[in-house]
Amino acid sequence: MKIGVFIPIGNNGWLISENAPQYKPTFELNKTIVQRAEFYHFDFALSMIKLRGFGGKTEFWDHNLESFTLMAGLAAVTERIKLYATAATLVMPPAIVARMAATIDSISQGRFGVNLVTGWQKPEYAQMGLWPGDEYFAERYAYLTEYVSVLRDLWGTGHSHHQGKYFQMDDCRVSPQPSAKMEVICAGQSDAGLAFSAQHADYNFCFGKGVNTPCAFSSTVDRMNQAAANVGRDVPSFVLFMIIADESESAARAKWEHYKAGADQEALQWLTQQTQQDKRADSTTNVRQMADPTSAVNINMGTLVGSYTQVAAMLDEIATLPGAGGVLLTFDDFVLGIEQFGQFIQPLMQTRQHLFPSREVA
Ligand SMILES: Cc1cc2nc3c(=O)[nH]c(=O)nc-3n(C[C@H](O)[C@H](O)[C@H](O)COP(=O)(O)O)c2cc1C
Repeated sequence: MKIGVFIPIGNNGWLISENAPQYKPTFELNKTIVQRAEFYHFDFALSMIKLRGFGGKTEFWDHNLESFTLMAGLAAVTERIKLYATAATLVMPPAIVARMAATIDSISQGRFGVNLVTGWQKPEYAQMGLWPGDEYFAERYAYLTEYVSVLRDLWGTGHSHHQGKYFQMDDCRVSPQPSAKMEVICAGQSDAGLAFSAQHADYNFCFGKGVNTPCAFSSTVDRMNQAAANVGRDVPSFVLFMIIADESESAARAKWEHYKAGADQEALQWLTQQTQQDKRADSTTNVRQMADPTSAVNINMGTLVGSYTQVAAMLDEIATLPGAGGVLLTFDDFVLGIEQFGQFIQPLMQTRQHLFPSREVA
């Protein structure tokens, strides 16, 4: 099973709580996290793009770095870990993204890939006068399909002549081309999003579900597997979880309860409003699930709370699902969390024993 870290490019990571660690995103912080993740043999690091925060007392995600430029810096200070940046495709022309990706491929010597998002939070784009209108909600993956076609042409041949509804290229050129295969990932959860990933992505990210229910998200993986099978491809799912671990289960649970008790209601109200903007009755997106009261404090990403042994066992359980390629991890405290994972959790995971070849496996 592959392990990735979803680095805190926005303030306070993924805990919308006054009781959680309060910090701003900096290059230094993310450098420490990614270098330590590399030390512990994490397979990859991903940063998101978020252009408008939720406000509230914690100013949640009001402070965000930019994904490509952050990953370019991280590429220069790492050696083995794979790096993915996220493209805000609505406001970044594909020929520019293709060239930035080729540049980071050069800096990282082939360790770079791109996460393509359509955007689901209207104010991120409306604030710049760049929201195309609410009909975009239904067209997001038609737009992304043209977008990825331009990217693939430019990375594959150095030219694009694409003539479509959204992009008209006139012998567009990008050189140099990437030295390694440029992997494209997506995090679609709607039928249209999964169909896009089935056709065009190398991996699909999905939300985990619930607290200490490691396989509760399996229906999303099943849908992804089916969509990929429909087009004769294999597209592994990587599932997003937050780890809140400690030496004892009670210590970990106490932290989780404390974070929930301090939930920033004002910021959560903004999140709820934004997740309801796509009014289509038949919408299969999971965007609304993010604000579900079950665990809105960490956008319902799926949470593993417990002792190191318990968390290791739950992570191993995820790997048993057909189609689950790995996990994408967040932590309540990233610097401490990476150390706890590397020192205490990973060595207990059956699925990571290849990292410890000289040990007897119990
Ligand atoms: C791991 C992960 C990373 C994501 N990163 C971003 C991001 O950086 N920016 C963004 O606007 N949306 C991001 N999303 C949201 C997805 O792109 C997608 O819009 C969402 O999962 C809803 O699925 P749908 O687009 O098929 O409706 C992310 C989702 C996941 C699970």
